[in-house]
Amino acid sequence: MRFNIYLKITAVFCVILAVILTGIFLYLDRTLKDYVYTRIESALMKEALLVKLFLEEDFPGYPRLKEIDKIVDLAGDTINSRVTIIGLDGRVMGDSELDGEELEAAENHLYRPEVQEALNSATGTGESSRFSTTIQKRMMYTAVVFGKGSPRGVVRLSLALTDMELVAAKLKKILGVSILMAFFLAGFISFIASRQITRPLQEIADTTRQIAKGDFSRKVSINTNDEVGDLAASVNEMSREIKDRIDMISRSRTRFETVLLSMFDGVMVLNAKGQISLMNPNLMQALNISENPRGKKPLEVIRNVDVQEMIESALTGPAGTQSREISVMFPEERIYLVHATPILNEGRTEGGVLVFHDITELRNLERIRRDFVANVSHELRTPASNIKGYAETLLNGALDDKEHAEDFVRIIQAEADRLANLISDLLDLSKIESGKLEADFQSVALAPVVKRVVEQMSSPAREKDITMLNEIKEDLAPVLADRGLITQVILNLIDNAVKYTGQGGTVRIFSTEKDGKVLVSVSDDGPGIEEKDLTRIFERFYRVDKARSREMGGTGLGLSIVKHIIQEHGGEVSVESEPGKGSTFTFSLPRA
Ligand SMILES: Nc1ncnc2c1ncn2[C@@H]1O[C@H](COP(=O)(O)OP(=O)(O)OP(=O)(O)O)[C@@H](O)[C@H]1O
Ligand SMILES: [Mg+2]
Repeated sequence: MRFNIYLKITAVFCVILAVILTGIFLYLDRTLKDYVYTRIESALMKEALLVKLFLEEDFPGYPRLKEIDKIVDLAGDTINSRVTIIGLDGRVMGDSELDGEELEAAENHLYRPEVQEALNSATGTGESSRFSTTIQKRMMYTAVVFGKGSPRGVVRLSLALTDMELVAAKLKKILGVSILMAFFLAGFISFIASRQITRPLQEIADTTRQIAKGDFSRKVSINTNDEVGDLAASVNEMSREIKDRIDMISRSRTRFETVLLSMFDGVMVLNAKGQISLMNPNLMQALNISENPRGKKPLEVIRNVDVQEMIESALTGPAGTQSREISVMFPEERIYLVHATPILNEGRTEGGVLVFHDITELRNLERIRRDFVANVSHELRTPASNIKGYAETLLNGALDDKEHAEDFVRIIQAEADRLANLISDLLDLSKIESGKLEADFQSVALAPVVKRVVEQMSSPAREKDITMLNEIKEDLAPVLADRGLITQVILNLIDNAVKYTGQGGTVRIFSTEKDGKVLVSVSDDGPGIEEKDLTRIFERFYRVDKARSREMGGTGLGLSIVKHIIQEHGGEVSVESEPGKGSTFTFSLPRA
């Protein structure tokens, strides 16, 4: 059972009260009894003295036996006590309650204690309280020696103590009841008072419980100028302080989370056990994690041994950031530069932070640049060495061979054209890429442009017996574009279609309009392009079949130029193809 403070205080009070009140009770009982006794005794003594005086005045001589008994009877009646006159020899000479024969038969009283005391004391008085065998009651006796000049006898007064004892018992009862009432009253008051004192403590306890649950709006409303008031003020102060701290922590947490959320790099925080305690959304998205990975081991979410190795060495190895390039295969192939830093607290490792910096694009660009340099040199070297070879042949005597000399010069011219084309394509590309292209955007109707390109391409098409279907409607909405660049795009696409479609194929050019954009498609029923090449054909110099393409005079720059031009125009270019069935290239341009 719970024993509240106010109950404890009340209990202690009650014990103290009980001890004090019992003491008071015993003391008062005793004192009162003594007081009453003394009063009665002194009254009895005074009465005895009065009887003595009366005897001495009225009977200076020794009164006769009969007279004495009469006087004694009278005196006994008057003062309402038993009066006995005892001779110096102890014989009972008169008694207010005994007569005649009884008196004669009364035993000798000389050795009664009060009589002895009176006879032997200087004052001539004596008293005693004892049980009277004569009348079977507790009695009080006072005795006084009488006789003018010389002692003649002893006057003894006696009183039954029964009445006095009754009074004493009554007094004791009254005293007991009042003490008991005082006890209960004081006990009740102390209960109320201690409750009153401890009630604020209860309020403080309730409030602190609420504060512990996070309700910082609760305040202790006690402002008494005492210890409880001080305690209440400290609790309020503490609550304010905690709220401030929590606010501060949650503010910095929000800041931290915002930084993490907005960070482009992936971040993973690990605890001392090497479990994930936090992962930012970017990393979760990159690793295709939908559930909160909290508490999991990194190996469960990134199936990569290198990452696990790095984590282990970061958590156990020497302090400092470690960096390593790591390839992740799932959900797509990506390359990350991972920095692992241990979190140290007072020399102990409490976890680690891993930052995943995606360098896939960078590595791809590096590769493309490397390939580009290699490709350009290769593409330039072939025509250059051809030109050199034929020129040398001519110089070495072929000039005189009129018939072949002309062929050689034509070859040199063709190769020089090829070189010039290549160089002009490269220049175009670099111009577009560096943003130096001076495009003249204006409203362009596409139907006449396509019509002219189709006418231009009609002779090579006719050579391969290819049917060209121009389905562009005359009333197609005009687009916002540079006429020259768009012509180049359409030419490139139709050129490819004609170039890669076999004998007797069909090339279709058509258009649609969607969401304020104009979409132009060039489709053919040629060989199509395999899935693995589809994403790469827009790269510079990329050709599906290098030998065949080069044979046809291609450099692999056409689609790359197309893509850049369309992007410059704020449009998009895409390709759909099925090997063996054909390809459809589509580009979109904003309406003018
Ligand atoms: N319509 C198509 N059908 C099948 N393959 C195509 C088609 N268009 C392009 N390709 C493939 O895409 C590759 C890249 O085309 P791109 O136009 O960039 O280069 P190219 O035609 O080889 O050279 P260039 O256009 O610079 O003369 C081609 O080599 C070819 O393999
Ligand atoms: Mg081409």
